[in-house]
Amino acid sequence: MIPHQKRSWAEPFKIKMVELLKMTTPAQRRKAIKEAGYNTFLLRSEDVYIDLLTDSGTSAMSDQQWAGLMLGDEAYAGSKNFYNLERSVKEHYGYKYLIPTHQGRGAENILSKVMIKKGDIIPGNMYFTTTRLHQELAGGTFADVIIDEAHDPTHPHPFKGNIDLDKLEKLIKKHGAARIPYVCVAVTVNMAGGQPVSMANMKEVRALTARHGIKVILDMTRIAENAFFIQQREKGYARRSVKSLVKEMCSYTDGATFSAKKDALVNIGGFLALNDEEKYQEASNMVVVYEGLHTYGGLAGRDMEAMAIGIAESVQDEHMKARIGQVLYLGDRLQQADIPIVTPVGGHGIFIDAKKFLPHLKQDQFPAQALAAELYLDAGIRTMERGIVSAGRNAKTGDHYYPKLELVRLTIPRRVYTQAHMDVIAESVANVYDRRDKITGLRMVWEPQYLRFFQARFQVL
Ligand code: F0G
Repeated sequence: MIPHQKRSWAEPFKIKMVELLKMTTPAQRRKAIKEAGYNTFLLRSEDVYIDLLTDSGTSAMSDQQWAGLMLGDEAYAGSKNFYNLERSVKEHYGYKYLIPTHQGRGAENILSKVMIKKGDIIPGNMYFTTTRLHQELAGGTFADVIIDEAHDPTHPHPFKGNIDLDKLEKLIKKHGAARIPYVCVAVTVNMAGGQPVSMANMKEVRALTARHGIKVILDMTRIAENAFFIQQREKGYARRSVKSLVKEMCSYTDGATFSAKKDALVNIGGFLALNDEEKYQEASNMVVVYEGLHTYGGLAGRDMEAMAIGIAESVQDEHMKARIGQVLYLGDRLQQADIPIVTPVGGHGIFIDAKKFLPHLKQDQFPAQALAAELYLDAGIRTMERGIVSAGRNAKTGDHYYPKLELVRLTIPRRVYTQAHMDVIAESVANVYDRRDKITGLRMVWEPQYLRFFQARFQVL
């Protein structure tokens, strides 16, 4: 019986338009995944039932955002949508200078080119694929300074994205502040399972780096989700709005890269934001070379308008409660079925621990890649590998990196799927778990030079 006092949360929106999904047969899926080289990135989306590949660019825009598209001012220079976006960025994040880019990695490219010199070290809270690659292409080396708990899939630490201040201090002592152009703080930490950084940690990182004259740059791709976790988990912040927490976090930093395809509820877009005028001048010149003029950066006017509106929607408490509520709901369902997942559950999805799910496979048999293929075969649900394939190879030795975390990501697009979809996902994962002993590993038969997880091909062992 439902107790009388109980009040469930529900989405703070209703559905105006729907997109029909295609159901496939097991035989069709077997053919599709084989043709895709057992890489879910190479499947056609038409062959997918529930698409949990990524939360990037896959959100449903609001009617306000769609209306914003109609207000696109498609001038080459000085579009009014750029100024609307600039206003939205100042209001919500507080940064002085804005450079739009086509998406997050466009901003990472520009930032890395203007800030990193050959031989520099860039500390960060766990690597992210594109971020680290741009640092390396600019001649730098990434150094992981995340707390050890982040590498433990079930450690209960509420802020597993935190930076380990001792590790950071030691790194500064070893290399000297002059070789560290900035510390990159990602909120939340994607590869650790969408784990947040606490406000206390942000302040401590700011204090430590300030003593050494080192800048702090945010990867603020999922900052609103991070702020929601601060509100829910960190002492002293329960009464603060997500909006005010987002702005406070930015205030401890000197700039940010942003993939608006996540938090900001748009299908394309990003930016680089900076407070330093000189670096901004350099970056706004560089963006002309790689993206487009500094008032559009590879985006149409209408894209910038949708982004300006999406940023405002992303920091609403009700939105975030429903967004994270849905992810937590799926996490609960999977835990009830004894599926090994990363806990505490993070912001943008559920991460299955493939090492525990498939203990009979060695890491170089690509357990997470094999499990993602198997999940697709079961019910047409598309997920993504976040393990040894994503980690890539050490550029100097050519060996695989062997990350501690070997995960399959079930990423939840924002405002797209229903609770019933979450139930179907949980049932399918439980089904695969029941026959896990029969799942075999994979052999990599082709890999590209950069970001191999996107395009590598495999065969069943
Ligand atoms: N930083 C983080 C933390 C990200 O998650 C991403 C993208 C980027 C930067 C790059 O942004 O894709 O707009 O160029 N993550 C996507 C994902 C690809 O599926 O996690 P982008």
